[in-house]
Amino acid sequence: MEVDVTIFEMGPRDGLQNESNFINTLDKIKLVNLLSTSGIRKIETASFVSSKWVPQMADGEEVMAGIQRKSGVSFTALTPNETGLERAIKAKADEIAVFGSASEGFSKANINKTIMESLQTFRPIVEAAPMPVRGYISCITDCPYDGPTNPAEVIKVAEELLDMGCYEISLGDTLGSANPDSTEKLLSALLSEFEMKDLAVHFHDTQGKAIENIGISLDFGISTFDSSIAGLGGCPYAPGAKGNVSTETVVEFLESKGLRTGVKREKIKEAAEFARSLRR
Ligand code: HMG
Ligand code: MG
Repeated sequence: MEVDVTIFEMGPRDGLQNESNFINTLDKIKLVNLLSTSGIRKIETASFVSSKWVPQMADGEEVMAGIQRKSGVSFTALTPNETGLERAIKAKADEIAVFGSASEGFSKANINKTIMESLQTFRPIVEAAPMPVRGYISCITDCPYDGPTNPAEVIKVAEELLDMGCYEISLGDTLGSANPDSTEKLLSALLSEFEMKDLAVHFHDTQGKAIENIGISLDFGISTFDSSIAGLGGCPYAPGAKGNVSTETVVEFLESKGLRTGVKREKIKEAAEFARSLRR
């Protein structure tokens, strides 16, 4: 089916990583399988990070081995370092992602590295990876530790990630505090440096502004949107942040604009009901 926009589903990773009760592996697999029959073509399925840092994601290998693969659907994983890449290759991830930050405070809190050290760690991973690599930049407008982010800091990190070979940059509103003004200011600055086809947006919805921010991103020509089924999630290292904007809402919004998402509404409704049942 032809689509006009890409939905990048975050629920099984960004969504579940923040749940305090351990979600059992079979439930994680069931959630991914429900999502992969919905028409969504990109599903962040696992996170090959340290289990001491994010215990919820410790069963990434088992999840990747248990899911039903589907042609046309990419099952992707986070990889912070070489160990992460090795695990992702063994687990047959279709795509991986490195994740940096535009602010030093979050970089240190999330991956225990300065921005410079993180980029030095990512380059050999991106260059060696036998699969496509996405690059995240967190704290695009605000950081929980350092306050507002200057767009120039986002541009610097994006240039580096694209230069090392990331095929796309996902702009992370980690705190969910971006608003139409800060989103417009950031995208205007990025527009003079990058092609919009190289950018995706990743809004958390802490303040209920995500859909407005997506509307602005659409006007700038962005066509890839990260979202989380049932709005699950948050980041353990961004205190107070809520989940990504919900997949159901994003699909409804994009289709109301006449854009084809390829996503079947009944199927995501079923996946959303199951996702909600996992929260206790
Ligand atoms: P560290 O403690 O500095 O690293 O952590 P280390 O190299 O000293 O390793 C510590 C231990 O972890 C060692 O084990 C390593 O072997 C192990 P020990 O010797 O103590 O038994 N280790 C690993 N194990 C499995 N897989 C690995 C791995 N690497 C090391 N890949 C590190 C540095 C990066 C590992 C750590 O800080 C970490 O895992 N951080 C990840 C935090 C995270 O997952 N945050 C959430 C995802 S990011 C996010 O949500 C934002 C995003 O959604 C965008 C947005 O919203 O802005 C993407
Ligand atoms: Mg996130």
